[in-house]
Amino acid sequence: MGIPAAERTFTTVSTTEHPTRVNSWNGWDPLRHTIVGRATGTVVQAPEAAVRRDFPEDGFPLGTYGPMPEEMTAEANEQLDNFAEMLRRRGIRVDRPTPLDFTQQVHTPDWTHDSMFGCMPPRDVLITVGSEILEATMSYRSRWFEYLCYRPLLQSLFEDDPAMRWEAAPKPRLTDASYHEDFWDYYNTLSTEDQLDRVARHDLVLTEEEPLFDAADIARFGKDLFVQLSLVTNRKGHDWLQRHFPDLRVHAVTSTNTHPLHLDSTWVPLRPGLVLHCGERLADDELMKYFHLNDWEVVEAVQPVSWEHLPRLSFCSPWLAANMFNIDQNTICVEEKEVRIAEQLSSLGFEIVPVPFRAVGPFGGGLHCSTVDIEREGGMEDYFP
Ligand code: ARG
Repeated sequence: MGIPAAERTFTTVSTTEHPTRVNSWNGWDPLRHTIVGRATGTVVQAPEAAVRRDFPEDGFPLGTYGPMPEEMTAEANEQLDNFAEMLRRRGIRVDRPTPLDFTQQVHTPDWTHDSMFGCMPPRDVLITVGSEILEATMSYRSRWFEYLCYRPLLQSLFEDDPAMRWEAAPKPRLTDASYHEDFWDYYNTLSTEDQLDRVARHDLVLTEEEPLFDAADIARFGKDLFVQLSLVTNRKGHDWLQRHFPDLRVHAVTSTNTHPLHLDSTWVPLRPGLVLHCGERLADDELMKYFHLNDWEVVEAVQPVSWEHLPRLSFCSPWLAANMFNIDQNTICVEEKEVRIAEQLSSLGFEIVPVPFRAVGPFGGGLHCSTVDIEREGGMEDYFP
């Protein structure tokens, strides 16, 4: 598969003379430098114990896999490029990942898998905490090697910023012992009540064989990190994160989401004292109590406009509408068509930057998923003293 020459490098022209500095403690401080993902080469991945795609109406019934349709990839890339350009015009530095041939078969000494996935969404793979960028373990075999798309960029950040800490969580082995092999044979046939019971007990597809987490299951609030136990993050993953960040409080959380996967459409920090919550997915009592005790306002998001029409080949819910990206405490990028949530945020005092982004949904993300903060102003604060 040919990757366009322009995409073989991650580098983009910086619009500011500001020296490279990795620093970000939350998602709302003024943004200076970010990654924006690429749709290039994304594939509907081959089935594995952790994930099975089944799009019979869109040409990919269960068991089949292969590149996303070309016109969909082109349209998603156009929206991603325009988003990156808009940020640059605001003086924000934007870097991009370097795609690989995601159709290739991948191997470790323990297993072989018939495809990779893509380099969207970057938020799943990397998390910045202060001056550290941490590579997540990931828990799909199809995403095991995805960190390689970010290595050219990480290497150069490491060279340019003498204070950057570059860390990678232990690469998991992902043998059969890491999964309940038959989980997807029955899970979707259970009643909602039974599914939610499993979610609350965190008895899902992953075993506790080894620490596993995706970076997008973590929400950053300065000294506090909230880690969602999900289809891709297990208790040992949370435990590893707590031991890795001994100076931070690392909380394990769940919500009433039958298919928990990445926290950034469920529990969305907007600014100090205000978090947006997807009402259908009730947060566990402990989490709610923690925020209320500290006088945070928890606002329930209005129903997304996209409720009725999900794009083809999409594995995300309409709540992607809540997957928004702050430029600072007062300014938020929201998908252009999501006017109801935009209105809600305006009434809370935010300036809205509408961004056309619908075509990116089938590639796994909204505006927040598609980015990773490299630098925001501000330091580590304790918002829950
Ligand atoms: N699984 C979420 C939903 O469908 C979407 C979250 C995507 N976030 C991400 N970082 N990939 O509601």
